[in-house]
Amino acid sequence: MTPDALDPPPPAARLAVTVRLAGHGDVPALQRIEAEAAAVFAPSDLPPALAQPMDAAELERLVAGGLVWVAQDEHGAALGFVACETVGRALHVAEMDVVPGAARRGIGSALLRQAIDHAEGADTLDVVTLTTFRHLPWNAPFYGRHGFRPLAAGGGFEHLSAALARERTRGLKNRVAMARKAG
Ligand SMILES: CC(C)(COP(=O)(O)OP(=O)(O)OC[C@H]1O[C@@H](n2cnc3c(N)ncnc32)[C@H](O)[C@@H]1OP(=O)(O)O)[C@@H](O)C(=O)NCCC(=O)NCCS
Repeated sequence: MTPDALDPPPPAARLAVTVRLAGHGDVPALQRIEAEAAAVFAPSDLPPALAQPMDAAELERLVAGGLVWVAQDEHGAALGFVACETVGRALHVAEMDVVPGAARRGIGSALLRQAIDHAEGADTLDVVTLTTFRHLPWNAPFYGRHGFRPLAAGGGFEHLSAALARERTRGLKNRVAMARKAG
């Protein structure tokens, strides 16, 4: 039987959220969101041993870079986040998660839009990149609807080749690098 955790809710009404920059005080909430979001993956895709949230120090580093945004509801509860960093002229999406209870209500799209808008508004950036699962509907196809295109291997981006190699070493399969122009 499919556990409930692997069976995300059907599309529901869009949820109005505010997207704001994350601060250091958000780090525990970001870890909680990432841990909760990991439940949508089957163990065959994300083995439990690999389903650990980023450690606090890594999240602190990303937050300090000023490219982490949080989506919160009208009560101020954090429901999702996107964590990015710049690599050369690329804005790289290092992590994006929405709690399963608020999934498929437009929050992921709003967070991704924030990241894309940031890249489009920055003279120093001309592409947005990420790695994701090729075969899961909320991964590559979702990003495809936001203008991302799959790349062969790392598509010539060193940080993407390195990310794919790291992911392979960790035992992840079906990973793909994707990119979209900013601007
Ligand atoms: C990826 C993620 C952040 C998207 O957040 P979200 O708030 O659900 O995003 P949106 O509501 O804007 O859009 C989700 C879209 O994904 C697709 N999708 C999600 N779950 C799906 C499912 N079970 N079946 C089919 N399509 C699905 C749909 O296209 C959906 O849009 P729709 O509801 O309008 O049909 C969220 O699914 C998540 O946290 N997943 C677990 C962690 C993860 O995969 N992170 C990204 C790593 S690269």
